[in-house]
Amino acid sequence: MKSSPWWKQATIYQIYPRSFFDSNGDGEGDLPGIISKLEYVKELGVDAIWLSPFYTSPNKDGGYDVADPRDVDPRFGNLDDAKKLIQVAHSLGLKVIVDVVPNHFSDQHIWFQQALKAKKGSAERARFHFYDANEDGTPPNNWISLFGGPSWTQVEDGQYYLHLFDSSQPDLNWDNPEVASDYEVTLRFWLDLGVDGFRIDVAHGLVKENLLTNHPDPQGISDALRLDVSMDPEIRYALLPTVPYFDRQGVHEIYRKWRKLFDSYKDRDIMAVAEAWVHPPINSTRYVRSDELHQVFNFDLLDAPFKSDFLYEVVNRSIELMDSVGALPTWALSNHDSPRVASRIGEVQARALALFVLALPGSCYVFAGQELGLPDGEIPDSSRQDPIYIRTKGAQKGRDGARVPLPWNGDTAPFGFTTGKPWLPLTDKWKELTVEKQSVDPKSTLNLFRTALKLRADHLIDQGSITWLESPEHGSKSDSLLAVRRGNVSIYMNLSDSAAEVEITGKLLIVSAGIVDSRDGKVTIPPVSTIWVHH
Ligand code: GLC
Ligand code: CA
Repeated sequence: MKSSPWWKQATIYQIYPRSFFDSNGDGEGDLPGIISKLEYVKELGVDAIWLSPFYTSPNKDGGYDVADPRDVDPRFGNLDDAKKLIQVAHSLGLKVIVDVVPNHFSDQHIWFQQALKAKKGSAERARFHFYDANEDGTPPNNWISLFGGPSWTQVEDGQYYLHLFDSSQPDLNWDNPEVASDYEVTLRFWLDLGVDGFRIDVAHGLVKENLLTNHPDPQGISDALRLDVSMDPEIRYALLPTVPYFDRQGVHEIYRKWRKLFDSYKDRDIMAVAEAWVHPPINSTRYVRSDELHQVFNFDLLDAPFKSDFLYEVVNRSIELMDSVGALPTWALSNHDSPRVASRIGEVQARALALFVLALPGSCYVFAGQELGLPDGEIPDSSRQDPIYIRTKGAQKGRDGARVPLPWNGDTAPFGFTTGKPWLPLTDKWKELTVEKQSVDPKSTLNLFRTALKLRADHLIDQGSITWLESPEHGSKSDSLLAVRRGNVSIYMNLSDSAAEVEITGKLLIVSAGIVDSRDGKVTIPPVSTIWVHH
């Protein structure tokens, strides 16, 4: 059964175009490559794809440095390929979400090139955040880029411009109406081409306040905002609410206008999901008020330990928070910015957690490769490309590990991804992880996802929310079992290394690992495993 509107409980498959499939042997994935694998995506059982950026870009930040938001970078193909991709996806019943990056442009965007040539105080500079240096020549404030180093870069006449990310990504000035109207043109451009929605990059960052004020711990907040930097959760969660450049009230006015634009495409059910990691978590609900966006990413599982009390908290809080504004939560265990879940918590653990999460109400985001149980790639430092690695002079390894291309077939790297040299190396150790091998192995992670997604559609979508099943230990620190009921299905996740016995009757639908023993109304759940039981 399908939920309505389509996005409400959709499973959305995130494709990082550069790493998906290379059609022309240049070592980088591209749009024709994606088109040729859409059948595979469809068979997986997802409802939609989200494409990370494929726009014209010098590619200093994996395409999140956009030089022309209304064209395709030649490395990925051209606009006709984009049109065809949308058409083929639609013919397979898949919706298409594209990424938009409204916080910043690339320094190669014509506007920034014009700003560099123009004078201080000019209309060209007013599209970005240009300010004079302090009297001693230092930048206007002490903020640190999320990619390391100062978040200001000086230009020839002495002014500085703001970039929360790489120096090649100047932040746009959203107080300038020209910026807003240009972005509307971009949104319409893609909607007219047929896309069904947008993933809004750094959605909480568009409006800045206190631009000329120093922060007491600029390095601390910058680290706290990065999921690839490990940090004591207490320190992280104390620092996050003090970030001065995210989650300002003004961003909501922007999304109210965008919502009107989306709704003007009548009968299209256009959706938008905000990349807005905000604190305290209640603030995230503001992005999905009825006149704003449709979904907001939930980041809590991207760095969650495999611990029942923590997971119990996250699941409860996420559902309750979103319920307070009549929205449903989103769930993601991996994305292109964080270590892959199988590396972070373990392969079997990742399977158990995925099966648990796929049962929950709301929308599930699956990062391409997650359905294969891929770990992070092993990358020699000389091959690293992330600006984080470069800007921190190697102190932080960055996000390339999660971006290694997918292994498709064959017995040696690069496993059919390309006939050339892949832009990041694949390891021969992935031999058993290819799509080809996993497709024919009923116990593979790929088949776990395929079966789970089918069962989710058949038994869980539109079954309302969950109820926690009674258990003396729920929520306590020593707890090793999380159990919920949704509709006619009970879901048990055994987090411990030993088998767990529960009293239930019903038909076993799926198990994430191991063999389930059931007799006399008792079911033994294997160690580190999740089961779904139908009543
Ligand atoms: C978002 C993207 C990330 C990018 C950053 C700057 O967080 O997910 O990949 O580097 O924005 O655009
Ligand atoms: Ca290519």
